[in-house]
Amino acid sequence: MLPKRKRGWALWIVSVLFMSILVACGPTKLTISRANLKPNGFAARPVLVTKTISQQDWEENNRPQLQEDLQMQVFGFLPDTSSTQIIDQKTIAHTAYGGKASIEEYTLTATAIFNGQASTTRPFKLVVVIPNDTTAPVPVIMLQSFCPNHNTVRHPDVSKPAGNGFSCDGEGLMSKTMNYVFGRYIATPPMEMILEHGYALAAMYPSEFVADRSERGLADLRALSEGHTDDQTRWGAIAAWGWGFSRAIDALEQDERFAKDGFVTYGHSRYGKSALVAAAFDSRVGAVISHQSGTGGASLNKYKKGESVREITKTFPHWFSKSYAGYAGREQDMTTDQHALLALIAPRPLFLGNARRDVWSDPNGAFRAAQAANSAYNIYGKQGLTQVKLNDFTPAADIAFWIRSGTHGVVKEDWPAFLEFMDTHYK
Ligand code: GCU
Repeated sequence: MLPKRKRGWALWIVSVLFMSILVACGPTKLTISRANLKPNGFAARPVLVTKTISQQDWEENNRPQLQEDLQMQVFGFLPDTSSTQIIDQKTIAHTAYGGKASIEEYTLTATAIFNGQASTTRPFKLVVVIPNDTTAPVPVIMLQSFCPNHNTVRHPDVSKPAGNGFSCDGEGLMSKTMNYVFGRYIATPPMEMILEHGYALAAMYPSEFVADRSERGLADLRALSEGHTDDQTRWGAIAAWGWGFSRAIDALEQDERFAKDGFVTYGHSRYGKSALVAAAFDSRVGAVISHQSGTGGASLNKYKKGESVREITKTFPHWFSKSYAGYAGREQDMTTDQHALLALIAPRPLFLGNARRDVWSDPNGAFRAAQAANSAYNIYGKQGLTQVKLNDFTPAADIAFWIRSGTHGVVKEDWPAFLEFMDTHYK
């Protein structure tokens, strides 16, 4: 064992190395350039421009086709049917957050059926924080994070993940540096603020059921989809995590304390992607807050700035179907694009978070995708995105596009914007 002083140095060097690697190859890579505030580049091909179609037509024909295309070319296939088992449910605290909330913890497993073959996940936890001073059903912000639940909901009795799960714990240099680089709310959301606005929060750590590691993740995905024999279109982790949001809704939807239209999926970055997938494939999701979802999320694949299809599928081979990797360098051959993912969320409220220097996530491509998704909102007599420029934030719009200064992360200004959007749609 190294002496304490040397250990401090070793930790410091490891932290700096780790952060340098992130900065060099991660989302902060292109921080010198800034996103253009006017939509530029080629517009995506809108979903429906050729003729006016009925809502019924859209729901019975267009939506399933768009879902099929996205599964074939980007995410891989979600199960034919699914179910969720509540193994355990317990109250951890009745008077947390200064008496303002209770905390409950669920242990769940979920079963995925592909072509008649069922597979079940390992047990995973769902931690729910519920405001105490409310009689009416409340909306619940469903959150996925790369930090385990005990980092999201800071109470000593929240379970830690089994095994050597990643942790964003502690007061160490690593976690301080992480907060410095990726913002104060990267690990822990402002729970008091969320409660003041009257919302519940349900947190999950998706690595518990599909690991966010190339090999282990791919093994988990295969084990959960044995009935799906086509290797090219097997689901990736983004689809499986999105599916995880739905399993959490299975567990909570009968609970009278939660508003039926109030299951809001929230995630940052990779979980901004899964939050969109959840809503696109599950109509029980009431609204989405997808922050800096980038490539494979809200940003278009064609005419792309920032992270390319080649880069994302090489670095994260477990996130998408193999077929998506096959489109690297020939994105123009895709018959779908990410605006279809947004269109599938219509007519539900959608928040797209961005940052000016987060060009890696391509805010401009996300804006053009949102513009192209409007035709789906129009079918429901809604406007969709009303902003003309990226920074005309309109929280009450069906699609609210938020861009702040700065880089990739969840910073001070972000949660107030998320909650402003929630308030205009739920109050
Ligand atoms: C990487 C990846 C992005 C992703 C991000 C994140 O930077 O390139 O696509 O959104 O990680 O999840 O933090």
